[in-house]
Amino acid sequence: MINAIRKYQNYLNSCIDELSIIVEQAATYRKSAIVPVTNDDELFYPLFFKIQSMMNSINKNSQQQEAEREIFLLGHTLNSLHECVIITDLENMITSVNPAMLRLYGYSAEEVIGQDVKKLRTDQETSELTDLIIAKTMQDGWEGEIMNRKKNGDVFPIHLSTSLVRDEDGTPIAFVGIARDITEQKKLQHQLEESTKVHADDLRYFSTSIQHAQEEERRRIARELHDGLSQRLSGMKLHLELLLSELNPEDKKSLLRVKKIKKQINDMITETHRISVNLHPTALDDFGLTVALQLLFKDFESTFKIPIAYYPTISTHEHFDRQIEIALYRITQEALNNIVKHAKASAITIRFKRDTKQYVLSIEDDGIGFEHSIIRKLVQGKRGLGLISMKERTENVGGTFEISSVSQQGTSIRIQVPVQL
Ligand SMILES: Nc1ncnc2c1ncn2[C@@H]1O[C@H](COP(=O)(O)OP(=O)(O)O)[C@@H](O)[C@H]1O
Ligand SMILES: [Mg+2]
Repeated sequence: MINAIRKYQNYLNSCIDELSIIVEQAATYRKSAIVPVTNDDELFYPLFFKIQSMMNSINKNSQQQEAEREIFLLGHTLNSLHECVIITDLENMITSVNPAMLRLYGYSAEEVIGQDVKKLRTDQETSELTDLIIAKTMQDGWEGEIMNRKKNGDVFPIHLSTSLVRDEDGTPIAFVGIARDITEQKKLQHQLEESTKVHADDLRYFSTSIQHAQEEERRRIARELHDGLSQRLSGMKLHLELLLSELNPEDKKSLLRVKKIKKQINDMITETHRISVNLHPTALDDFGLTVALQLLFKDFESTFKIPIAYYPTISTHEHFDRQIEIALYRITQEALNNIVKHAKASAITIRFKRDTKQYVLSIEDDGIGFEHSIIRKLVQGKRGLGLISMKERTENVGGTFEISSVSQQGTSIRIQVPVQL
């Protein structure tokens, strides 16, 4: 120890001596105001090298300190991260983890370091998925949601992102995985989906109830029109016929007038019948859907002079569920209304079939068609009550509604409804 201090003392003394020579020399230069060039090298170089080597060692120290500081900051960041950091070697053996990982998975460092990372995986994770994650990690990293297992056996969802670490030469040396517990997020997502489903169910129930009530109301008004107004008009017609037979055949003027009134009453009876059938087709109650549709088409053709080619492959004895029957009838009615209102069609083709699982009804026209933006708006629920109600009616009986349209070529509607046995 004493020797070391002496050595250091000697070294300091030699430095002081050299410095005093420099100071002396400098004073001499100042006095003589002549700068001697010759002795410069001898004088300054040894000192210069000494200072340079001292500076180097100081520099080295500060670079090392800087690196150590960075490592300390990185370590601190990893330790205080909420995300779990898992580092493995290329054989998937865990080489390092941060405290968040230990907290979340419930292990101590000794229990995981040196272990295969599959210790954290669940039995449900397929080898294909594991291989995919490794392959992607080797390329440009993998990101996704998987299930992991804690020490106590609890299985929980994580969001994992992985990457490959390479050394300065680009050789792969390790895998890094950053995992985040997403149990709460999944729970909230599930709750949200559930409540959206409940709302959708509520809305569907609401819309079905409205349609139910509407059908009942229509049926009531149709019955009143038929039993009340129609009967009265028929009664008036009988009275007029009686009056006609009693009138003096010479009284041409009165005869003509009464005949005119009789014609008007006939028209009113026909119109009342049309309204009543439109409100609620009694044929639907009396003969079922297939016959009611045939009557509807016959009436449509004679009123609007657009031919309908109807290809049913369903027996007229087919027994339909009441709701399906009403839905398919109303959808067809609205589709025909739309063709009259918008399509400028010259022909309509309707197909109606049943296979083991479903009814399929398609209605096609050869009219002007319409913009796809309308279909998009329909899907978003922004346009056309008619199309929306067709879609809703189909969905209310568990079916699917499709519409497609080609400009200047026509529109086609296809409804598929599961057969309810
Ligand atoms: N068969 C069709 N041919 C041409 N355009 C149609 C046809 N059916 C529907 N459309 C278009 O879709 C729109 C929405 O129809 P819809 O929902 O029934 O409402 P509305 O008939 O009251 O306009 C119509 O305004 C029309 O532009
Ligand atoms: Mg319409």
